[in-house]
Order: sequence, then structure tokens, then C-alpha cells
Amino acid sequence: MAKKQAPKIIMVSNRGAYNLQATDSGIQPVPAISGLVSAVEPFLKEKGGVWVAWGGREAPQENSPGVRLPVPQEDPAYTFLEVPLTAGEIKLYYHGFTNGALWPLCHYFLEKCRYNSQEWSTYVRVNAKFADAALMEAREGDTVWVNDYHLALVPAQIRHRKPQLRQFFFWHIPFPHHDLLATLPWAPQILRGLLGTDVLGFHLQSYVDNFLNAVATLLGARVDFEHNVVYWQQRRIHVGAWPMGVDYQAFQRQALNPGTRARAETLRSQLGVEHLALSVERLDYTKGILERLLAWERLLEEVPEWRGRAALVQIAVPSRTAVPAYRRLKEEVEAAVGRINGRFSEGSYRPVHYFWRGLPRQELVAYYLAADVMLVTPLRDGLNLVAKEYVASRRDSSGVLVLSRFAGAAQELKGAVLVNPYDIDGMAMILNTALNMSRAEQEKRMRLLQEKVRRHDIRWWLTCFHQAMMAREEETADVSGS
Ligand code: G6P
Repeated sequence: MAKKQAPKIIMVSNRGAYNLQATDSGIQPVPAISGLVSAVEPFLKEKGGVWVAWGGREAPQENSPGVRLPVPQEDPAYTFLEVPLTAGEIKLYYHGFTNGALWPLCHYFLEKCRYNSQEWSTYVRVNAKFADAALMEAREGDTVWVNDYHLALVPAQIRHRKPQLRQFFFWHIPFPHHDLLATLPWAPQILRGLLGTDVLGFHLQSYVDNFLNAVATLLGARVDFEHNVVYWQQRRIHVGAWPMGVDYQAFQRQALNPGTRARAETLRSQLGVEHLALSVERLDYTKGILERLLAWERLLEEVPEWRGRAALVQIAVPSRTAVPAYRRLKEEVEAAVGRINGRFSEGSYRPVHYFWRGLPRQELVAYYLAADVMLVTPLRDGLNLVAKEYVASRRDSSGVLVLSRFAGAAQELKGAVLVNPYDIDGMAMILNTALNMSRAEQEKRMRLLQEKVRRHDIRWWLTCFHQAMMAREEETADVSGS
């Protein structure tokens, strides 16, 4: 008799823990760096399962089968299953609908939204591909965990074909107010898609509220606002706010590593200034890079004492370079860096050190250790894990976190110095305060921050989700038993 398999997790996301690269010895998985990967890969490694994702490459042909690989290669713990996307699908679904419509919409950049019905129909088709791949893997008792705005239709597509399958969904970016969402011609379809899940998670209660109001207003769904529950097609969907955490202990260990500490020292002496400010993010218009550069320039104009004594390291990780708005932003950012350096460089001193590249974890932590002030000033951000990573990497409770009030993390990180990134003069003055902050004040704030980031770490986040799922199952059992 065939042995019954233990229930497993089927993780589904646009981008997984690996990008696939064709080499002379065949297709190789290259580890990808992202918040989602650091959050859930350890969990998959421990429990086993399948991660269904696009491998970041163009499928060779229209009907090429997806690659299936045991990963990590050196010590396989789970399976990576590729959803192959053609060049046309990448253009219309990834660069088109997800990053040309949903991304700007959810971040309140209505003027950047492009609504195109061909892109929408490709989004529907590609979501069905992901659902098919997940369904191929799913056995009774398994849990399908779908992530983010790329795959909003997958829950309903799965529910339709396997109604009993247990589903989670986590939406990692802001969820907009329904007035804004209503500008999208397919908003009702997006909402119906998401309501296919059992449990739906967001980072903040305000995103939960926006979602509940949207389903009530745009779909006429019955909503219990007090308990964050939606009643839809004879089912109850539980919605919750669980801000994602980072692996605090792993960052602390990395920060203690002698190699990382030595590298941080080298960076400081190479940059050769008394005060170092740092920003790290994907080169994205939501991140407020240009506004931050303007504030840095204003600071150097208004408070000349900082010239020669303070420098900003701006690490901009290349992202979505096929989308015109991202290409334009790169030009604008580079022009601003050139202008500021042209105005204020003196001898070997440069006020801005700009890097257009990603960094491996150890190098990143060395920068976190080297920086006196961390500037995380997005115009809008679902949460922002970089802010938490900086806090988790500080060993001696020094350092100042300057955080935009429009980053979701601002609601949790009470010791941060909050800024309005749209107010350039105000931001320049806050930068001045941050650079001048006394050690005692830094420590008071950093201890508060570290306590929060340590307690609400990644394990806490996974436990919250797990408990929500369990609570839902008990309730289902009660209902069916009564
Ligand atoms: C955001 C999204 C993620 C996405 C990441 C990188 O954090 O929430 O789902 O993977 O950006 O963007 P990319 O387009 O490179 O996958």
C-alpha cells in the first residue's frame, strides 16, 4: 500500500529563492537575495516542501516545461519548481501589469499607472500558470502559501479547482484606499481573486482596513470589521496585520564576525569622514532617493560645517530596468549625485558615494556597522526591512535610524527619528539633528528599537501566521461539528 505523505508547504511567489542561469553544465540555480527569501527559506528548509516561482529567465520556447530542482544543491531540503515565462509574458505580466499598474497604484503613484487590457489578460493567464503548477504539487492536507501582488488571482483559481485545499496569502506591499483602487478597471477581479484564500495577511492594520473597505464597497461583501473577517461565497476569510520581521540573531552574529568588523573599519577609513550616513534600496521611485539627495544637498548648503566631515553612501540596487519610469529615475539620480559631488567635493572628499549594484549579506552588514546614520526615507513603503536590518546589525546600541513616516515600519519602530520625505527643508534639518545626536540619546533610542526588532523577529512573524491558520481550522472544525 502506498505510504501517506506528510502534509507539506507549497510556497508560491513570482520570484523565489533562486534565479535560474544557463551554464555549460546545464541550468544552475543562483541564490536570490530578498526579504521574502530570508524570511521563509529557513522554514522551507526545515519542513521541506516545494517553492513554485519564476526563475527570472526567459523560457526558451512557448511550451517549455519548468525546471524542477532539489535545493540547496549542496544539501537538498526542498524542491524549486520553475514557472516558465516567455519573453512576451515577462513584458506584459511582469514589466506590464504588475510593475506598470499594480505597483504604482498600491504605492499611491496614480500618475505612473498604465492600465492596459492586453497586460491584464496576460496577468490572468500567468496567474493561472502559477495556480496550475501549485495544484500539480498539492495533495490533501497540504498548505498553499501565495505571496504578493503579482499573484492576486491565484487563490480563487485554486479554490475553484480544489476547494478543500488550505490557503494563506500574504500581501507584502501597501494596500491602497478603495477610492484609489477603484481607478483600476479590474479591481473587483483582484479582490475576488484574493478572497479565494482562507487567511490573508498584510503588514499593517491600516492596509487591512483598506482591504475590508474595498471588498465592502466594490464587491458588496459582508464584512465584520471588528474581527477582520469577510463573508464571501459561504466562506469566512480571516484578514490580519502581521508586520514581517528579520532574523535578528543572524544579523547580530554576522555583525560579530571578525571579517565583517574588519571590513567595516576598512570602509570607514577609506571613506575618510567623521560622520557616515547610509542608504540602501532597490533603485525605485517609491524609495525617495532623489528627495533624499536633495535634502543632503540642502544640508550641505545650509550647514557648511558638514562639508568635508560628513558623507552619504547611497547604494542603489538595479531593479526593473525594462520599465521606463525606472530608467528615467536612474538618470535623474545620477545627475543629482554628479551635481552634488561637483558642488561640494574638495581634495579627496566626496559628499556622496554612489553605487549601482547589489551587495552580499556580509558586505551589507559591514556597511550597516560603518554607518552612524541610516536613512530610510521612502515616499511610500509597505514595511521596509532595511530599517530593521540596520537595527539588528548594531552591536553597541549606537547609530541613528532616520525613517520616513510613510514606511510601514514607522508604526512599529518608535525609537526612529521620523521624517516627511516630501519636505526637503525639513528633512535637511532632521539630517542635521541626526548627525549631531549625542551618544546617550542614540543609545536610548537604539535600545528601544532593538528590543522591538528582536521580539518581533522572523520567527514571531511565522508563528503569528501559523496561529491564525490554526485558529481558522479549529473554527471550521467547530462549525462542521455543530
Ligand atoms: C518588493 C515586492 C517583492 C519583490 C521585490 C523585488 O519587495 O514586494 O515581491 O520581489 O520588491 O522586486 P522584483 O521586481 O525584482 O521581484
